[in-house]
Order: sequence, then C-alpha cells, then structure tokens
Amino acid sequence: MALQGFLAQLDEVVTAAEAAFSDAADSDALETARVTFLGAKKGRLKSVQQQMGDVERDDKPAAGKAFNQTKGRIEAAFEAAQQRSAGSSSGDTDSNQFDPSLPGTSFRLGTIHPITQTIEELKEIMGRLGFSIVDGPEIEDDWHNFVALNIPDDHPARDPLENFYLATADSMQEEKNPVGLLLRSQTSTVQIRVMEKTAPPIRIISLGRVYRPDTADATHYPMFHQIEGLMIDTNVTMADLKSVLRLFATSYLGDDVSIRFRPSFFPFTEPSVEADYYWNNQWIEFGGAGMVDPNVLEAVGYDPEEVTGFAFGLGVERLCMRRHGVTDIREFYKNDVRFLAQF
Ligand code: DAH
Repeated sequence: MALQGFLAQLDEVVTAAEAAFSDAADSDALETARVTFLGAKKGRLKSVQQQMGDVERDDKPAAGKAFNQTKGRIEAAFEAAQQRSAGSSSGDTDSNQFDPSLPGTSFRLGTIHPITQTIEELKEIMGRLGFSIVDGPEIEDDWHNFVALNIPDDHPARDPLENFYLATADSMQEEKNPVGLLLRSQTSTVQIRVMEKTAPPIRIISLGRVYRPDTADATHYPMFHQIEGLMIDTNVTMADLKSVLRLFATSYLGDDVSIRFRPSFFPFTEPSVEADYYWNNQWIEFGGAGMVDPNVLEAVGYDPEEVTGFAFGLGVERLCMRRHGVTDIREFYKNDVRFLAQF
C-alpha cells in the first residue's frame, strides 16, 4: 500500500471524527461517536492502524508518525466536545451566548397607591384654600372620640359592637372599660386635639385612617380614610362652609360642581347637614358637615359667644372611587398590582 493512500485514510477519519463529535447533541451521542472512532477493538482509527502493516517498509516510520498525530487530533477533538457537553448541562453556556448588544432587562417601578394619590391631591387643594394639615393618633381615648364631641354615654355610636375597643391591661380589670382606648372611628377626634392645643382662629384639615367593625363588601371596609376639615373664627357661617365645599368639589372633580345641603344630625354640629354634589347628572353624597356645636367649643375651652366654626368629614375612598369609576372598595386593599398600576 502506498503511503499516500494510508495518509488519505487518516485524513478522512480525522475529518469525520471531528464532525461527529461536534454534531453530538448530548453525552450519549458523544459516547457513541467515541466508540465509532476511538473504540479499542472496532473503532475506525483502529482499522486504519491495522492497515499500517500493508504500507511499504521504507514508508512505515512516516506512516507511524502520521498515525500518532491523527490519533492525538481525534482524542483532542473528543475531549473538547466532552467539555462543551459538560458545560451546557450545568447551564453555563449562557455566558458564552451573552450578547451585549441586546437591550437590558428593565426594572418596573411601582406606582403610588391610588388612596395616597387622592390624599396628596386633597391636601394640595385644601392647602390652596389656606387650610394647614395636621395629624392625629389612630389609637384614641373616649374623650377625644366621643365625650368632647358631644356624643353621650348611651349613644349607639359608642356600642362595643360598633367600635374596635382595645383590651388593655387596665380595661380588662374594670367592667366598663374606663380607659376606653379604641381605634378611632372618625377623624373628628383631631378637631378636639387641635382646639385643645391652639387658640382660634383655626383652619385645618386632617386625613387618615379610621376603623369600624363593618363586614367588607363593595362599599364597606373595616378600615378606610376620612378627610376632616375645621374652621373656627369670629364670624364663620354656613355660607363659608358651602363655599369651601363647593370649591373643594370643583377642584377635585374638575368641573363647576354644585353643592346641596340636606338636614341631618351629628352630635358635634348644630345645625348638621349631609352635603351632596351634582356630578354626571346626579346628586352624589359627599359626607357630613355642620356648624360646630357650642358644647364642643366649650369642651375645649372656647367661648361659643365669641367664636363660631364649621366642620366637615368626607370619605376619601368614596371620592377616589367616584372619580376613577372604581365600583368595589375592596380593590384598594387586595394589593393586586394589575389594579393598582392603573392609577
Ligand atoms: N365624623 C362623621 C362620621 O364619621 C363625619 C362628620 C360629620 C364629620 C359632620 C364632621 C361633621 O366634621 O361636621 O360619620
């Protein structure tokens, strides 16, 4: 056998082996290819080696050398393929496929909760009307939540079933919960806290959470938000109240909104009204309001002969729901970002 023929066979084997190794899809396929080419008994390299005996005597050294080189190349190709296959099964070929020209993964920024957005907007509107913002505690005593607001002991609003009274160590020892701590049921508490500390004139709003043991449904939730307003001065009248509420509704709803008052009753205002606003061709209840009851002014040490004032209390969720067409208050508190991200 001529040396040329032998070398041609070596070339053929090395080319076929390299192709087979790089085509092998997984380690099983690679092992099959290894046996085909490098198999000790029936491998293709082995059968070429067996033909070396037919090569002319003088050509034998060259043939042996070429054979060893070829064997080295095929073994190296196999090892490289084996490493690639091990790498891909442990997942780090990803780094080989990194494409710096692709756009990066963008982070999604959260949005401000619709109720917080509403609160900020209401503060802004009332701030422009000269009302400053004050905060009050969510855990209250019954002086601020009831007594000073002219709500008598036997009033149904004080019923334990209507409030979240707190079982403090002191209250547990006494039969009638004389400490009377509770989660505030209304933001009117802040009227008392402000007047106790400040001399008139007063022009404040307070926004925050209130709590009532209501079963959650489309319009009720055991926790919700109110905006409370209070204005005290020497000559405040119901006309001022109406103007402020009308400007407020007009600014928030973005139209020239009419206001109407219906007679009502609240222990802490006299007279008391329910305020409605006219929007989208219907009257919509806004909240409660009235002229601060003289008993309340006296409870905080003001002279009802010298000062008068108005107060109002509105539901924040209700305003937000109207404006955005939300029909179920529970949506605000499910924390489903698909809902919240719309605002
Ligand atoms: N606190 C009342 C409530 O929660 C709302 C309210 C009515 C507040 C009349 C007021 C007011 O300041 O004057 O139902």
